Amino acid sequence: MDKYVVFGNPIAQSKSPFIHTLFARQTAQDMSYEARLAPLEGFVAAMETFFADGGRGCNVTVPFKEQAFDYADQLTERARLAGAVNTLKKLDDGLILGDNTDGEGLVQDLLQHQIELQGKRILLVGAGGAARGVVLPLLAQQPSSVTITNRTVAKADALVEAFATHGPVSAKALDELEGDHYDIIINSTSASLSGQLPGIPAGLIEPHTVCYDMVYGAEPTAFNQWAQQQGANVVLDGLGMLVGQAAESFMLWRGIRPGARQVQRELRRSLQ
Ligand code: ATR
Repeated sequence: MDKYVVFGNPIAQSKSPFIHTLFARQTAQDMSYEARLAPLEGFVAAMETFFADGGRGCNVTVPFKEQAFDYADQLTERARLAGAVNTLKKLDDGLILGDNTDGEGLVQDLLQHQIELQGKRILLVGAGGAARGVVLPLLAQQPSSVTITNRTVAKADALVEAFATHGPVSAKALDELEGDHYDIIINSTSASLSGQLPGIPAGLIEPHTVCYDMVYGAEPTAFNQWAQQQGANVVLDGLGMLVGQAAESFMLWRGIRPGARQVQRELRRSLQ
């Protein structure tokens, strides 16, 4: 049986074993997938042991995504630009490939909700690791613009510099957004984790504006509740992105694309 694992610290909260076990059942793959705690100072040793023991691939979550980036022998373009790796795969020649499937997970979730990105004006709120991971996959969908805004503007400027040659990306301070119009607003900040709002002006939300919070939970996030109060008709949380990134990892490992919808439904039910 092929062995897969997710490494993190902490890891008990991870939904990845639930998701991948359903994917494996759905696609009749002979594989196991479990969560494993890596010591904070022992990520590389955990990788060495896992692959030496016959591990085929793993997911990597907080706080190890940058260390996984350094550990990989080869990187996909999207991982290189994200500066972080959430998926490792042992190749036939024994080398370890690092990928980042987070951004494609977001894109696939939006597309599954019939939200086309081509020609759209996208506002990306936040400029941390979560934002960095999604810029290239968003630009690949050929939106008319991606505007990055952040409490600390210098970090938004740095992201723009990193991606400027890949598409129409620009930065704005939160207080410069007043009067702008966007089709899709994506909250990549960690503000929702502490029940806070990221600080964008209320007037940005129009009925047609799709609002997406990368955070998810049993209850709507602070940002999504606020967006709904501002009149947004379509409000989505990051549960679909979580399942989407898992589906991309599964695809990289097994060469089969699992169906995300049923797994999303079951995961949502398990949160209640
Ligand atoms: P992650 O990997 O989740 O992106 P991160 O790299 O620490 O985590 O980035 C957190 C992001 O959330 C940053 O954009 C941060 O803004 P700053 O760069 O100004 O710190 C943003 N953030 C966190 N809490 C916030 C809050 N209460 N309001 C606005 N932005 C917030």
